[in-house]
Amino acid sequence: MKPITITIDGPAGAGKSTTARRVAEKLGYVYIDTGAMYRAVTLAALRANIPFEEKPLNDLCNSLNIVLEQSFDGQRTFVSGEDVTSLLRQPDVTDAVSAVSAVPAVRRHLVQRQREIGLNGGVVMDGRDIGSVVFPYAQVKVFLVADIEERTRRRLEEAKASGADTDEKQLRKRIVERDKLDSERSDSPLVKPEGSVEIDTTNLTVDEQVNRILDLVKSYQRTYALIDAYGKI
Ligand code: DC
Repeated sequence: MKPITITIDGPAGAGKSTTARRVAEKLGYVYIDTGAMYRAVTLAALRANIPFEEKPLNDLCNSLNIVLEQSFDGQRTFVSGEDVTSLLRQPDVTDAVSAVSAVPAVRRHLVQRQREIGLNGGVVMDGRDIGSVVFPYAQVKVFLVADIEERTRRRLEEAKASGADTDEKQLRKRIVERDKLDSERSDSPLVKPEGSVEIDTTNLTVDEQVNRILDLVKSYQRTYALIDAYGKI
């Protein structure tokens, strides 16, 4: 069957990247973490010390070449030839990324890149606006949610694992602030995309989340196999 496009949107800590990566592995598809692209632009903006405004960010995006590569340990992000993967989750980038990604010039550049990457299907793409703006006609669209306590717990685990900031209150506050900025911006805010299936991951294991999405894919494929068969009768 022709490879399809799967979109996974949702707030920070809902389980998007872990789930999307595993779904892609199971299907032999490419996993695209679009948050890393917004983080890459944010890192470059911080380094260049420019204001988070339309004109300077538009010029910056014109000068950057963002390339995503798949490696055995996941997606690697290159900016103009430099591998910046390990820098993208630094607190200063995380704190600034919502402001940078609210600027329309940044969204125009990155949405265009994402559409080019996903043009032929066979991708699982996660982010905030993938099912609503980037690929509104994707065959399988998922909206992942989880309650704030569980999302904080997950981020805390990740922070501990990488030896970063582990203050629980601070982490929760940052997640709430980022959700608010991402949901209230005027250009392509975080919303539940029309036609998406909502999955609450609060009490689900990663395997359960992955299997629910694989079930949606199977059900899509069964429906279209039937339509194809009828078409031939
Ligand atoms: O998924 P993440 O935490 O790495 O995303 C970082 C930020 O990037 C997020 O707070 C908002 C922005 N983002 C976006 O605006 N649109 C996307 N498709 C993906 C991420």
